[in-house]
Amino acid sequence: LHNLDKRWLGTPIDELNRIPQCAPPLSHLKAVPNHTVTVRTDLLKEGEVPVPYPTKFKDAWDDASVKMPCSEKNLFPMDSEVCGVQSRWELIHTALQGGFRSCLDVRDAILRYNTANAKKWDFTALNLLCTEYLEHSEVQHLFGVVLPAMVDLALSAPRLCTMPIPLLKSRMNHSLTLSQEQIACLLANAFFCTFPRRNSRKSEQSIPRKNSESGLKSLVFYSCNKICLFSPIKSLFTQLTRLHITCEGTIEDDGYGMLQVDFANRLVGGGVTGHGLVQEEIRFIINPELIVSRLFTEAMEYNECLIITGTEQYSKYSGYAESYKWKESYKDETPRDNWQRRCTEIVAMDALKYRHFLEQFLPEKMTRELNKAYCGFYRNNANSKHLSAVATGNWGCGAFGGDTRLKALIQFMAAAEAGRDVAYFTFGDAQLMRDVYEMYTFLTKRQVTVGQLYSLLNQYFNLMCKNCRTTRPDISLYSFIYERVSSPATADTSDSAKDS
Ligand code: AR6
Repeated sequence: LHNLDKRWLGTPIDELNRIPQCAPPLSHLKAVPNHTVTVRTDLLKEGEVPVPYPTKFKDAWDDASVKMPCSEKNLFPMDSEVCGVQSRWELIHTALQGGFRSCLDVRDAILRYNTANAKKWDFTALNLLCTEYLEHSEVQHLFGVVLPAMVDLALSAPRLCTMPIPLLKSRMNHSLTLSQEQIACLLANAFFCTFPRRNSRKSEQSIPRKNSESGLKSLVFYSCNKICLFSPIKSLFTQLTRLHITCEGTIEDDGYGMLQVDFANRLVGGGVTGHGLVQEEIRFIINPELIVSRLFTEAMEYNECLIITGTEQYSKYSGYAESYKWKESYKDETPRDNWQRRCTEIVAMDALKYRHFLEQFLPEKMTRELNKAYCGFYRNNANSKHLSAVATGNWGCGAFGGDTRLKALIQFMAAAEAGRDVAYFTFGDAQLMRDVYEMYTFLTKRQVTVGQLYSLLNQYFNLMCKNCRTTRPDISLYSFIYERVSSPATADTSDSAKDS
């Protein structure tokens, strides 16, 4: 009862590991076969804009790389009378350098090199922005300062993005390091819809705000992580790690320096569910450098996650989903590491979407989620004491319809197996905070291991869900666990683990 007025429970948040303090010294940044670095690593210096590498634009018009708008292979069919083709990049130059006086000019320019999409593309958002949302002075600023700067940035592609950007395809373990300036250039190109073919249809919806020079001075590191599978056998002895759980605060504000979970779609960035702006879309708006990942990442497989280190936050928001509102610009003061990256590590991991409550207790679904989270949290060759805590919350339990109480346990298991503590944000739900904490203390007091918990989850499916004829089982997962662990019947957990 004494927990009723508490806003947080468990280990005080300041006792959990955060980067940069917990991290061991970084090795020198170096390009290797599975790590593409698009800047001069020898010239990397604090407070200076990284120098692109190589010096001259190198084109790769193939299926392994992002096709660049400035490629000479990027051709555009000429008017029907004169057959033949012309350089699309030249056309982009001419169209964008003409200057814009209104959003109609922006649309016309974009459609000059995207004629095939003239009917399909909808510029309502840009139109509304100019006519409804922005003040007159802001519109003037947009057309007088921001857009011309974005045009310059976009047209600098052959000077800034000189190295072919590899596509982070599924089933490949690859890292990619770009400078924030290069990312800004790619985003400007996405804004003006200059990318050939793989151009995201959504690109005209996301208007990246660049409000300071500071954003150009560091690197962002994208890493596609593919990991061996979570093994319930290995976890027979693993104890749960420490937990801080709170009903206040958010992953991005209070989980600074921790491994922050992006409740992702398998196509990172989301925006495809029709639920408005939820956690992932909001994060991509306030940390717009995340958006670039859409250019080079394929849909994630069941055992893949995307880790993104170094993005900067440019905006503050209020509300959520339907009530979401951009609030103000934000100056990110997060320290940088030796590679000049902001110490912000985000892991995009996609939960499964459930339509029916019972589905998620199927052993193969629980295993899928365990593997996914483990893949996001686990770091090869890392010492647990150097790993930051995981900052997470109701992963998969909003738009994707999962059960928070089950997902919390799954994430605790994966974190324990990866050797990381957890900071869990219930996003305002005080009851959830108390329930999960009570379960957590019960399990840790009785030294229930990850392996035992795995077996308990499977027993719950077999005994309570498999033959259940209603939409929800009669006994909740937590009641079931309390009962099984408290009663002597727990002795048979190893038996039922066999059939799962
Ligand atoms: N910090 C902590 N918790 C949060 C935060 C935050 N900043 N924001 C939301 N929550 P949801 P999903 C809580 O629905 O179910 C997107 O379109 C809040 O309780 O975003 O995994 C993706 O692209 C919320 O209900 O994640 C995917 O397509 C819960 O987290 C899909 O949604 C879940 O947030 C993923 O849906």
